[in-house]
Amino acid sequence: MKTTSFLLVTSTLLLLTCTTHVFSATPCPPCGNTTVPFPLSTTPTCGDQSYKINCTSTGTLVFTTVNNSYPIQSINPQTQRFVIQPAPLIPNTCTTTDKIYEGIILNNTLPFNITSSNTIVYLNCTRDLLRSPLNCSAASACHAYINATVPTCQTGPLCCTYRTGGSSNSYQIRVRSSGCSAYSSFVNLDSGLAVNRWSRPGLEIQWMSPRETVCTSQNDCDAATSTCGVDSSSPNNGIKRCFCNGDLVWDPIQGVCAKKITCFNPDGCKSSHKTAIIAGITCGVGAALILAAIAFLLYKRHKRILEAQQRLAKEREGILNASGGGRAAKLFTGKEIKKATNDFSADRLLGIGGYGEVYKGFLQDGTAIAVKCAKIGNAKGTDQVLNEVRILCQVNHRNLVGLLGCCVELEQPILVYEFIENGTLMDHLTGQMPKGRASLNWNHRLHVARDTAEGLAYLHFMAVPPIYHRDVKSSNILLDFKMNAKVSDFGLSRLAQTDMSHISTCAQGTLGYLDPEYYRNYQLTDKSDVYSFGVVLLELLTSQKAIDFNRASDDVNLAIYVQRMVDEEKLIDVIDPVLKNGASNIELDTMKAVAFLALGCLEEKRQNRPSMKEVSEEIEYIISVASTKAV
Ligand SMILES: *[C@@H]1O[C@H](CO)[C@@H](O)[C@H](O)[C@H]1NC(C)=O
Ligand SMILES: *[C@@H]1O[C@H](CO)[C@@H](O)[C@H](O)[C@H]1NC(C)=O
Ligand SMILES: *[C@@H]1O[C@H](CO)[C@@H](O)[C@H](O)[C@H]1NC(C)=O
Ligand SMILES: *[C@@H]1O[C@H](CO)[C@@H](O)[C@H](O)[C@H]1NC(C)=O
Ligand SMILES: *[C@@H]1O[C@H](CO)[C@@H](O)[C@H](O)[C@H]1NC(C)=O
Ligand SMILES: *[C@@H]1O[C@H](CO)[C@@H](O)[C@H](O)[C@H]1NC(C)=O
Ligand SMILES: *[C@@H]1O[C@H](CO)[C@@H](O)[C@H](O)[C@H]1NC(C)=O
Ligand SMILES: *[C@@H]1O[C@H](CO)[C@@H](O)[C@H](O)[C@H]1NC(C)=O
Repeated sequence: MKTTSFLLVTSTLLLLTCTTHVFSATPCPPCGNTTVPFPLSTTPTCGDQSYKINCTSTGTLVFTTVNNSYPIQSINPQTQRFVIQPAPLIPNTCTTTDKIYEGIILNNTLPFNITSSNTIVYLNCTRDLLRSPLNCSAASACHAYINATVPTCQTGPLCCTYRTGGSSNSYQIRVRSSGCSAYSSFVNLDSGLAVNRWSRPGLEIQWMSPRETVCTSQNDCDAATSTCGVDSSSPNNGIKRCFCNGDLVWDPIQGVCAKKITCFNPDGCKSSHKTAIIAGITCGVGAALILAAIAFLLYKRHKRILEAQQRLAKEREGILNASGGGRAAKLFTGKEIKKATNDFSADRLLGIGGYGEVYKGFLQDGTAIAVKCAKIGNAKGTDQVLNEVRILCQVNHRNLVGLLGCCVELEQPILVYEFIENGTLMDHLTGQMPKGRASLNWNHRLHVARDTAEGLAYLHFMAVPPIYHRDVKSSNILLDFKMNAKVSDFGLSRLAQTDMSHISTCAQGTLGYLDPEYYRNYQLTDKSDVYSFGVVLLELLTSQKAIDFNRASDDVNLAIYVQRMVDEEKLIDVIDPVLKNGASNIELDTMKAVAFLALGCLEEKRQNRPSMKEVSEEIEYIISVASTKAV
């Protein structure tokens, strides 16, 4: 009976939408097993014609450059990027097969360019390259690459490495006899990794957000959502486009006019397309016929959804693996996770954080893992969660706790991290470590500060899109046995965030570390992390807790307490006695420098706080002072 009422509701909906025309912004059918997202276009009747790519008869997508073409390895509609496979070498030479076309040259009148995420290794270059701004030194990562992978290139006079993104490079990777004769490319490469851990070669290309669809008359537009009108912003006068009606806005990812909240769930979003098309087909037909047709269509649709779900599951793993972060993030099954954690047994529970429970587990090969069950805002679809997990998988830095993979089969998304043994910074500072272990000396603490700052600076400035941690605190900084610090829980707040989080009343972050500006406008920015990091610096300096009700009532908050002491010129009184007793003058100077850096981070006004990059450089400088003068 459930089906019957569903049918009735659907038919009412259909009758209501009977005036709807078929959408003109039609996405293309899949090419082989690969979904072709809007606006990419494989035929003249789908997608946006400015975004042509080819689908070969063997089901491979191909991107055509000015004189050549390259297979597409993966596509990410959310970031509007895809990765092509660079040309191979001619066997037994150090020349790429596309040298005859002078390498990769994009047509710069088309809406594609090369992203800034690619690391290019140039091989077999002439000495002229030494005068270029590229890194052709003996230390350049290309040498390790040649040694490990392409011995035929060892005879070439020079090799060089560079990161794309300078404007002259954004449309070409040039290969020619007067320059370099071969190249390869790697997306989001951490060149500190050993070559055998580099991801496979790929060149990432992005497309510009498509404009509203072009129309000649209102019939080309969806009357319910858009109106055909002259595009006044276009220099070629006379071009008309389907502009969105009322308070709807153009969603360049789905290619439709939509309500302002962007819908990230492709299944949910596309259903409106289907309904509209069905409406177009069934308009004017008698009610009985409509119902029969609907029943049939629903059956087919159900079948299609099942097929799509299976395809999606495969794609998910593909997307996670093609993330290019160097590490292959794995899609774990619910069964594997349950086995690893002994069915989430209570004795495996390591703790309960703001974003869910953490269990210790072991993979079949014995690797210790931390399994984090993320609590998510219920407004999130699985696809959005997956997308965010994918973004997390791409971040990869020695000062971040590594994400090994995830699992979305169980009710909550499960994130699987490398297991870091040696407790949190908070444990070390508050003496909760096993007896007999030396407490952190000043040198350790400076390095912990530097590692943390570098991890955060990477999230703010290197991750695409940038990730704001939102919950920086000493209990989120893990130490390994060499006392290297690794930032954990980054991006989890984003998983937990609902669409309206920036005006949500349930405060994110932790008392004592929270940016005071947040209370004024409820917005967390990179400078909120800078503020929280300032509190961590004070903890490193004082070994006191961020919030401690054992201090006098107006000193409960460490940031306020230290600020007051500095104002009264009593900074030295708050420094941890373990640090200052017996410290050299240089050490005391570096402690003061850290205190003033912390107070800079804690500035009331965001614009007065340094960026995480500046903070990290300053700490590096303080460390250099501490070490050079100590010798
Ligand atoms: C598409 O997927 C099916 C089933 O997973 C597989 O057998 C087939 O080889 C795939 N085709 C291509 C072109 O990848
Ligand atoms: C791609 O399609 C265009 C137009 O259909 C054609 O001119 C071009 O040769 C094709 N390129 C490849 C690599 O198939
Ligand atoms: C670049 O693309 C435009 C628009 O499709 C086309 O007219 C032009 O001929 C192309 N240029 C080259 C060099 O292929
Ligand atoms: C290196 O490039 C030069 C100049 O293009 C070419 O003549 C030579 O064959 C290349 N070396 C190898 C090993 O292919
Ligand atoms: C690309 O092809 C055009 C037309 O065939 C030719 O004139 C041009 O020299 C080619 N460019 C390169 C870099 O190969
Ligand atoms: C070249 O790259 C190496 C390795 O990343 C680095 O150590 C070196 O400083 C770089 N040299 C220049 C001139 O940028
Ligand atoms: C590459 O191999 C050469 C010769 O075997 C050696 O001199 C060089 O140090 C190696 N470079 C790297 C980065 O491994
Ligand atoms: C490349 O395209 C992106 C997206 O449209 C744009 O933001 C960026 O400025 C472009 N870069 C260059 C150098 O044209």
